[in-house]
Amino acid sequence: MHLDDNNEEFRTDILKGLSNPIQKSVPSKYLYDNRGSYLFEQITVQPEYYPTRTENSILEEYSDKILQNIPKEIILIEMGSGSSKKTKHLFDTILKRQDKLYYFPIDISFNFLDSVVTDLETQNENIMIKGIPNDYINGIKDCNNILFENNFKFDSFSRIIIFFGSSIGNFEIDEARDFLKAVRLNMNDKDYLLVGFDLIKDQFLIEPAYNDKAGYTAQFNLNLLTRMNRELGCNFDLREYVHYAFFNKEKDRIEMHLKSISDQEVRILGYDKIFHISRGETIHTENSYKYSEDKIQRLVIRSGLSIEKIFSDNNNWFNLVLLKPC
Ligand code: AVJ
Repeated sequence: MHLDDNNEEFRTDILKGLSNPIQKSVPSKYLYDNRGSYLFEQITVQPEYYPTRTENSILEEYSDKILQNIPKEIILIEMGSGSSKKTKHLFDTILKRQDKLYYFPIDISFNFLDSVVTDLETQNENIMIKGIPNDYINGIKDCNNILFENNFKFDSFSRIIIFFGSSIGNFEIDEARDFLKAVRLNMNDKDYLLVGFDLIKDQFLIEPAYNDKAGYTAQFNLNLLTRMNRELGCNFDLREYVHYAFFNKEKDRIEMHLKSISDQEVRILGYDKIFHISRGETIHTENSYKYSEDKIQRLVIRSGLSIEKIFSDNNNWFNLVLLKPC
């Protein structure tokens, strides 16, 4: 079997996550290989999955308002751009005010990013697109370097860094604050940060979004095992695990797990240790924290950013928050 050399970090993270005696886990970023990104796109159009269409409705209604107080020419940077579909509303609004637009989509799903960039390029001749295959913060640094190398005058542009989808919910609250701080350190005074937050609501609305009837979320979750088998030479038997997602009310978060339906022994190629997984035991694969306006305000305090404006949908299910350096 051929194993990729670039997988050292993946391997180390998995070894660590499976070795935890209290709760086995795998970092959620590994859900997004090429197939994972494809499956996530399917999730976003399922009737139960409200976040995408809700955030989209906010953008549809408020793109003008979001951009109206930004006087300078805009450069767009998007962290975790995925299909870039929601960003289209901003493209249209921006291209009404300026002739051309520089757009930097950042994504860790490299092949997926490539195909999205190719599509966008053929559809929009006024958008100059440079895909950045990297994680969030390093991706922003890459953008800064590219702009610098091309002699962009930073003070004649406003960069809007976008972080859609409530992906900030994947972070623990402390991590989310550190993350905002790190983004802030890579921003200038004239730049803005636009972040999507999914709001706390009745669990009977939230839980179905992570348990769609068509089963895409289950496939998305189980794909992690396929990826570990393929890239790390693991021996997970996919028939022995079920998708398990629930709302943890104490922590205001959706937890996604893979639950084992039997006792099993799992190994990683080239590594002696055997991992025992008991019947009923779970591997924790994702958290998706839900926020309130209060919680958002507390999060932003001491991040070096301040809230410029909050945009919401009619049901108040989702917030788009425009932040600026302070
Ligand atoms: C991309 C992190 C925003 O948490 O709702 C969807 C990922 N996981 N269904 C979310 C996800 C299961 C999604 N985010």
